[in-house]
Amino acid sequence: MQTVLITGAASGIGRDTARLFAGAGWQCVLVDRNAPALQQLGRSLPAPASAPHRLWAIDLTDPAQIAALGDDLPALDAILNNAGMSDASNTPLADQDAAQMARLLALNLAAPAAVVDACGPRLKPGARIVNVASGAGLHAIPWRGAYSPSKAGLIAQSLALAQARPDLCVTVLAPGFVRTELVDGLIQAGRLQPAGALGKIPLGRMAAPDEMAQALYFLASTGAAPLHGQVLAVNGGSSVYGGSQPLPPATLQPQPLDTPMHLEVCGGDGDAWQGVAPTTVAPPHYAACLDLSPLHGGSAGVLQAVHAAAARFAARYPQQASLTLLLPAAPARRWQDAGDGAAARMLVSTLACEWGSRALRINALEVPAGVQPRSLHPLLRFVCGSAAQYLTGQTLRCSAAAPGTPR
Ligand code: NAI
Repeated sequence: MQTVLITGAASGIGRDTARLFAGAGWQCVLVDRNAPALQQLGRSLPAPASAPHRLWAIDLTDPAQIAALGDDLPALDAILNNAGMSDASNTPLADQDAAQMARLLALNLAAPAAVVDACGPRLKPGARIVNVASGAGLHAIPWRGAYSPSKAGLIAQSLALAQARPDLCVTVLAPGFVRTELVDGLIQAGRLQPAGALGKIPLGRMAAPDEMAQALYFLASTGAAPLHGQVLAVNGGSSVYGGSQPLPPATLQPQPLDTPMHLEVCGGDGDAWQGVAPTTVAPPHYAACLDLSPLHGGSAGVLQAVHAAAARFAARYPQQASLTLLLPAAPARRWQDAGDGAAARMLVSTLACEWGSRALRINALEVPAGVQPRSLHPLLRFVCGSAAQYLTGQTLRCSAAAPGTPR
């Protein structure tokens, strides 16, 4: 049996995540300051007979309470540092007092590190640490106090932890807009205009909390090893959109997140990649295409291979499907060719913006030479499949080695 510690478990993303892990048979250590909501959640979860879930009602802005966490913990397979707060004061940064900023920074930036420190002795070898940052850590969001700085700090801290602890698998989830209590509160307070937000999201909708739960479930698995030290931005493409026109809203409902995937592997010798998913799946299924052709881009280059693959895909799939491309991770040998890879990555992002309103997704994985295809199968299953329906426009850099081996 596996065990996960989830902070901020009593509401929103954390609550759906706890339900997903408990439903899959994990033992959950759930941490939140909202004791009644935590108790209510705990009562509703299916519990493994051998090891009941643990509930910790503590304030994560208090380092002493965090330190006490480590006193009585089961061995952990994964820690999900999910608790976070936005700034509700609507006060310009220059007018914020130090105490107001300190509380937000204590929760969003200091607590994740303190939780890892407190639980360190209880981590199993190769354990996964996932820190929940935000798109706000990648782009500045004004009039939310120190929210953006705190999340940018959390991303940097996570990447430093990944470097310091190659024996673990450390990743960051950067969600876009998710309809949780946090976002509902911002909308009700008039501090977030839903129409304005949707107009900047290529997929034309906000995510549901269970879509983030699915991403966290994958990042907490051993299959996330190739993403060690990476940020997974699950945001409907909002982080890659740089246009000035409002994008159209979604017209299609996402398929259920457990819809089986029908995967077509094309653009090269697919034998090594066929094991990603069963080849024959009865409808209803989620249609996905894994295109290998940019890996063998040849003299025409990666950019042209991506464009040709996208044209093939768009001609075949009118709506609600995913295209995942494998790109070579090797740097260009000549400086004159160095633009090709960057242009290909931006083509992926641009296509995501053009296709989003039809729920057509496109992502790419940069694959280092010599990587074992099998080591990428779980990652590809996630990226291509229905559980990742809010992931688009991203190029993920895969590392070849698993945690515990020299990188
Ligand atoms: P939420 O407000 O629905 O849930 C946050 C949970 O953290 C609550 O159960 C709350 O009681 C708990 N919490 C707050 N302060 C705490 C403290 N001092 N000690 C212990 N527990 C505390 O938030 P949501 O939307 O589920 O967000 C979860 C994470 O995702 C946060 O880190 C947030 O910054 C991040 N995020 C959320 C986005 C969204 O659109 N909802 C977008 C991007 C990031």
